[in-house]
Amino acid sequence: MAESPKTTHRADYAPPAFLVDSVDLAFELDPKATIVRAALALRRNPAAPADAPLRLDGEALELLEAKLDGVALPASRYLLGQDGSFTLLNSPAAGRLETTVRIAPEKNTLLSGLYTSGGNFYTQCEAEGFRRITFFLDRPDVLSRYTVTITADRDAVPVMLSNGNPDGSGAAAGNRHWVRWVDPHPKPSYLFALVAGDLVNVHDQFTTKSGRLVSLNIWVRRGDEDRCGHAMDSLKRSMTWDEEVFGLEYDLDVFNIAAVSDFNMGAMENKGLNVFNTKYVLAQPETATDGDYQGIETVIAHEYFHNWTGNRVTCRDWFQLSLKEGLTVFRDQEFSADQGSRAVKRIRDVRGLRAAQFPEDAGPMAHPVRPESYIEIDNFYTPTVYQKGAEVVRLLHTRLGAAAFRRGMDLYISRNDNQAVTIEDFVTAMQDASGVDLSHHMRWYDQAGTPEVTAEDSYDAATRRYTLKLRQHTPPTPGQAEKAPLSIPIAMGLLGTDGAELPTRLAGENAAQSGTRLLMLDEAEQSFTFEDVPAPPVPSLLRGFSAPVRLKGVPQGRLRFLAVHDTDPFVRWESGQQYAAAFMLAQVARVQRGEAPGFDTALAEAVTNTLAQADADPAFAAEALVLPGEGFLADQMEVADPVAIHAVRQAIRAEIGRVCGAALRETYQRLAGAGPYRIDGRSIGRRALRNACLAYLTASGDTALAAAQYDSASNMTDQLAALSLLADAEAPARAAALASFHAKWRGDDLVLDKWFSIQAMSSRPDTLEAVRALYTHPDFDLKNPNRARSLVGAFAAGNPLHFHDASGEGYRFLADAVIALDPINGQTAARLIGPLGLWRRQSEARGALMRKELERVLATPNLSKGTFEKASKALA
Ligand code: TRP
Ligand code: ZN
Repeated sequence: MAESPKTTHRADYAPPAFLVDSVDLAFELDPKATIVRAALALRRNPAAPADAPLRLDGEALELLEAKLDGVALPASRYLLGQDGSFTLLNSPAAGRLETTVRIAPEKNTLLSGLYTSGGNFYTQCEAEGFRRITFFLDRPDVLSRYTVTITADRDAVPVMLSNGNPDGSGAAAGNRHWVRWVDPHPKPSYLFALVAGDLVNVHDQFTTKSGRLVSLNIWVRRGDEDRCGHAMDSLKRSMTWDEEVFGLEYDLDVFNIAAVSDFNMGAMENKGLNVFNTKYVLAQPETATDGDYQGIETVIAHEYFHNWTGNRVTCRDWFQLSLKEGLTVFRDQEFSADQGSRAVKRIRDVRGLRAAQFPEDAGPMAHPVRPESYIEIDNFYTPTVYQKGAEVVRLLHTRLGAAAFRRGMDLYISRNDNQAVTIEDFVTAMQDASGVDLSHHMRWYDQAGTPEVTAEDSYDAATRRYTLKLRQHTPPTPGQAEKAPLSIPIAMGLLGTDGAELPTRLAGENAAQSGTRLLMLDEAEQSFTFEDVPAPPVPSLLRGFSAPVRLKGVPQGRLRFLAVHDTDPFVRWESGQQYAAAFMLAQVARVQRGEAPGFDTALAEAVTNTLAQADADPAFAAEALVLPGEGFLADQMEVADPVAIHAVRQAIRAEIGRVCGAALRETYQRLAGAGPYRIDGRSIGRRALRNACLAYLTASGDTALAAAQYDSASNMTDQLAALSLLADAEAPARAAALASFHAKWRGDDLVLDKWFSIQAMSSRPDTLEAVRALYTHPDFDLKNPNRARSLVGAFAAGNPLHFHDASGEGYRFLADAVIALDPINGQTAARLIGPLGLWRRQSEARGALMRKELERVLATPNLSKGTFEKASKALA
């Protein structure tokens, strides 16, 4: 690195020097040379110093002309900075600044700003992409009204979309045409969007509760029209849900969604024109799995919900990112919970949090939900900001209750509509609406790390008193050695020895309560005494995962009891998982000592019991059947041992498959041919259960069943489940299945991504060579983020066994890919490098090899600042 890139600090926030009341944008679209004219109605911000210069952000722009109030500016009136910015010298207090720039969408491989994909035009402006389109105060606290005129060739670009409502169209010189869009709502530049090209739309409509008719359109490439049904249906259900649950109604005449196959993330909530990765729009039973269907429902809802939480009320600066993301993830989680099984949704969300956020919080990139500093903001679209941020919002929901939370939301929106605000504004609205003092709650936003909670209890038969002593402790994280206690709601209940839920009365309370209650753990250590307890009870703690903490040290006997008896489905599932995890970790220790892993018949009994009761809730049963994952186990160890973990998990799965073979086979067969494919919760649950059975049977050595399911499957869920099992096996059917899958789907990008991923995640010994070979496969394309993730990401993040190969070849493969991708798309390269950063949790030898690769990345000339930040922080 010639020079270290600069760090932005939260404490340095200063209001913008100028405000932009309105923006007039005119685009002359051309893939090689697009002309962008921007007219900004500027005025000095009364909240900023009167002599602050007018500096506009810019990046990769070629300035053709600049005018102030209609008069061309000589070069002596402005400065073009090394960083691409434009500074007007002697700025007046107000004026109309017009700039004309040229950009090259076709050359934009970063996919930030205006770029082309398959010959069409798309934009991505969050977080700082608008400056790659025109000179602007590209920060979220500058809100403007936009008018956008787009001109392009009539044949090549028949469709031209932007934010807001359509406002005229017509013919232009040559074979060109123009359209105009007006967005009546003031918005920050990161919500600007333009989509144009040869697109077709699937149309529907929605009438809001106050009677506004909204035209709904999903824009896709010709041929994809018949794959938009689920996305459209999810959109309409999201619109209804937000009206019913939060009273929030859509506010434009049109709602457009455009799907694009080159996209850095999942989707983007641009005002009135959401842009989506095709992965989160297109689905048909033959091409998409149940997981894909659920992903679409969630992401469609998420982006739609941003219209109020993010767009109408936006962020003052990027440190407040979780203000919109944590809250909107919470909202999409609640939506999905209401569409199907709440318990199963919660289990999946907690699984996801633990798989991605807990390791992040324990690693070199650990940061608070509201970070203190960043080099590249794109690196902070993290599980901590999103998923932990959603948990922190959920804490308030749990603590205040649904009704007070709703009043808080109403107040938050009404107070802050059309403003750029902070996390304090959100918490203050919740506090004012509920009357509950929430000052202590702010610590959740400012302190990184996952708190550990332990419980100790005692029972006094003479006084019939039961005392529960709870302790909390948060381990240090980079830059935060000392941690203060957090305010942790522990949803709990007490079970009698017969398994029945006991009414509870805390000392000082007049009457007993039945069912789940809330204990607030605000201090490092606190005792809670319950009266009138007839016999020593079993405590059920952290029901519904009421806080993002690690509850440690619950004895195996209690876990077994809770797994069977608790009234809370989350705790039942969780106790089974924790029981299995503790047993598995003990076997890992045995393997490390050179002994063979043992088996616990209680695990087999649990499987048999789960299968016997599976009909009541097949989706829950499927979740209960899956053993804790390799990543979850690694995360519980001081020093991970990916090889031993994999060996133990495989051995136990094989043994369960053998011991429970009859019951698994019976369930598998009974669920066969469940009729036509449907995507309701019960049908999804039945497929998940059946495939969980298949996985155990295959693990026990029977690959014929998976081969037969692969051949006969009529939907992608069943076909892919079978293929991924075959991909791990030595079975003769394996090569044929992979080849036929490729031959059948080579024309379908999203399905082909699955083909790459399955092989990247295989546990077979030849996987590393296979992955290297796939990297040079004619269908591999590093430039396409979905494809890059499907091979490189799936291998590094989804195959701990081979990524951590003792030779270091797995690390080398990832570093090579990151170095190759960084100059093309630094954003995606920086995201892929993550797994290399977790070297502290690996053995000395592996850690040294990982650092060597990080150093090699860091030594690469002209590294993007995002990749520089990730690699340098990982080594710090
Ligand atoms: N705001 C988007 C979301 O959560 C995230 C996003 C989409 C994004 N594309 C991006 C963030 C590109 C950074 C860069 O819904
Ligand atoms: Zn979002």
